[in-house]
Amino acid sequence: MLDPDHPLEVEQLDPDPVRAFADWLTDATAAGEPQPEAMALATAGPGGAPAVRMVLLKGWDARGLVFFTNYESAKGADLARNPQAAVAFFWPRLHRQVRVTGSVARISRRDSAAYFETRPHGARIGALASPQSQVLPDRAALEARVQALAARYPERVPLPASWGGYRIRPTVVEFWQGRRDRLHDRVRYRLGRAGGWSRQRLAP
Ligand SMILES: Cc1cc2nc3c(=O)[nH]c(=O)nc-3n(C[C@H](O)[C@H](O)[C@H](O)COP(=O)(O)O)c2cc1C
Repeated sequence: MLDPDHPLEVEQLDPDPVRAFADWLTDATAAGEPQPEAMALATAGPGGAPAVRMVLLKGWDARGLVFFTNYESAKGADLARNPQAAVAFFWPRLHRQVRVTGSVARISRRDSAAYFETRPHGARIGALASPQSQVLPDRAALEARVQALAARYPERVPLPASWGGYRIRPTVVEFWQGRRDRLHDRVRYRLGRAGGWSRQRLAP
């Protein structure tokens, strides 16, 4: 665990925010955070109403952050109308938060299929069986669908048309380091029109 008053200087962070994020994710994993890749994902619905829920980060590179879900879920409907999102990670052992805002796009079917194949059989059946965010009459209705699909696809499970990945392409990334007396350090990166990143220190 870091000293609770561990200072954060702008220059300590990689000039590329995705690399800086990857460094902090590595630190969070090393610190024993139980689910360092869990992130709160905010989307906006009709009229701008916000919605937030946890999802798992499954990949990141220079293009952005990838998570997987049901494209016909409530978040999928929000993103179809308004392909923008914000996420927040919180790593309490390190007194750190990272926030990312950006535009969202589906990843390729090929990349979704490649990830889908790595999931255990039960999770693949679950993705196929669950009409995520729809109203169910009862639990038995879901389990009947799971049973029927597991019998039909004992090994290979087809990638559901409604399931796959999204990539958040960051435009704003903020690194927050908790400090004594609530005098936290905050460093915000913003993507400029020409494609370069600028960084500023923000007041806590
Ligand atoms: C720690 C955690 C991780 C989760 N990861 C995912 C995920 O990666 N993908 C997903 O679709 N739902 C995930 N969920 C469930 C979502 O929070 C949510 O219930 C679901 O996606 C439906 O959200 P929606 O109705 O807003 O679309 C996770 C929940 C928790 C608590």
